[in-house]
Amino acid sequence: MLAKVFSFGLLGIEAYPVEIEVDISRGLPAVMLVGLADTAIRESKERVKSAIKNSGFNWPQERITVNLAPSDIKKEGACFDLAIAMGILAASQQLNSDKLKDYHILGELSLDGSLRPSKGILPIGIAIAKSKVKSMLVSHQNAREAAIVSNICVFPVKTLREAVEFLNNPETIKPLKLDLAGLFKQNADYEVDFNEVKGQYLAKRALEVAVAGGHNVLMIGPPGSGKTMLAKRISTIMPDLTFEEALEITKIHSVTGILPAKDGIMSCRPFRLPHHTSSSVALIGGGSMPGPGEISLAHQGVLFLDELPEFHRDCLEALRQPLEDGFIRVSRATKSFVFPASFMLVCAMNPCKCGHYHGPKSSCRCSTTQIHSYRSKISGPLLDRIDIHIEVPPARYQELTSVGPAENSAQIKERVDKARSIQRERLKGERAFYNARMNHRQVRKFCALGKEENELLKMAMSELNFSARAYDKILKVSRTIADLAESQDIKAGHLSEAIQYRSLDRDFFS
Ligand SMILES: Nc1ncnc2c1ncn2[C@@H]1O[C@H](COP(=O)(O)OP(=O)(O)O)[C@@H](O)[C@H]1O
Ligand SMILES: [Mg+2]
Ligand SMILES: [Zn+2]
Repeated sequence: MLAKVFSFGLLGIEAYPVEIEVDISRGLPAVMLVGLADTAIRESKERVKSAIKNSGFNWPQERITVNLAPSDIKKEGACFDLAIAMGILAASQQLNSDKLKDYHILGELSLDGSLRPSKGILPIGIAIAKSKVKSMLVSHQNAREAAIVSNICVFPVKTLREAVEFLNNPETIKPLKLDLAGLFKQNADYEVDFNEVKGQYLAKRALEVAVAGGHNVLMIGPPGSGKTMLAKRISTIMPDLTFEEALEITKIHSVTGILPAKDGIMSCRPFRLPHHTSSSVALIGGGSMPGPGEISLAHQGVLFLDELPEFHRDCLEALRQPLEDGFIRVSRATKSFVFPASFMLVCAMNPCKCGHYHGPKSSCRCSTTQIHSYRSKISGPLLDRIDIHIEVPPARYQELTSVGPAENSAQIKERVDKARSIQRERLKGERAFYNARMNHRQVRKFCALGKEENELLKMAMSELNFSARAYDKILKVSRTIADLAESQDIKAGHLSEAIQYRSLDRDFFS
């Protein structure tokens, strides 16, 4: 007898429908599985067989042929197990096959017949919402993730046995419904807060400016000065995610299989901290079955590159394009994949190889040449996309022990939100949403200076030996500082603060 089961597979971060046909015919007992990748075939066969037996069903002693269509896409992963098992049970008349056509069936089986979570259930749920059959059977551990898609019915199951009983009697399981608005709000709590950072007023101010204008940042300071601590708190002062943005980042995390089961939807902006030994595939995305990399996992949040000079040069070079475009395209022979990658880049580095150049005790033992060569490891084109450099000296003892209340993230975020809304208003119809995204023409249009300010900038450019590329950056950052102050004009004070944020452009070694 022939049975047909509907399921879905993943390509990149999108889902595509897969039809699973099972035919049982007379012949020597054997299983033929076609349409999967080689290793996946073998493994799936064994899991399905054990799961069926251990759930108390019969394994048919006949010839079983399983076909996964379309056959031109090599399917990977284990999320077809449950569908294959149910197809076999239907073809051997161990379950009510009339009902199979009403559901999409997904899930990986354990040998004992229980269901395990699968990757990418959110994008699959989104695809199901657009298909004709709008119900799905899925592991209870993926159910919340799937249920954030509206207009579909998600039936959570724990075991193969439960799934079969459900088909025989659909009353046994109720579809999972989520209070989306509530969940979205409830999840929007960060575990860290800026008020935990003592002192460091200048660094915190610079980060506030950076987030307000969407500027990328580089922090330079000795080990232990709090760079990582500061970086981890940046997402807490970024504007709230919209529901659509939250859905998009949840989707990326879902296909990577790192979405916590309890969350369903991610309402916090991500913070990603890839190690400097990361490969460019891990960082940028790709692989034989292309998947998103760290830059996409950081989408709408912060990508933190600690020890910037230690990263492979080709990794840093590969960041340039996504920093410009907000997405990354990975091409394969037959298809190209696009992964969103719009993130705030935050980098940190020691001032020199030993870490103590300009340190409190000036205990640096590096030669000038060594310092130069250490700093020249960061690629110029990448540096070109970083508007703000700040020095982060170790907090003084008094600051660390002070008990005075520091400002919390919510208070800082309020000012950021206000500055962002001023920018949105000004940049309406300009294809830039915040100051950092302004092009040269827009900088000239929106960052005009008065006479006094012009003089100041001219002087700074020559006195401090700034490169020409610093010019537009200083103007953009001044614009943001003026926006935070709710000032129409860029004033001398705003400009001189922005000039402070170009540490690396200044001639350090004279
Ligand atoms: N300003 C500060 N306020 C509170 N704790 C701090 C501060 N600076 C550093 N620390 C403490 O020192 C630890 C090391 O800081 P870290 O952020 O890892 O430094 P870095 O990344 O610059 O090497 C932090 O985990 C924190 O406990
Ligand atoms: Mg650190
Ligand atoms: Zn040194």
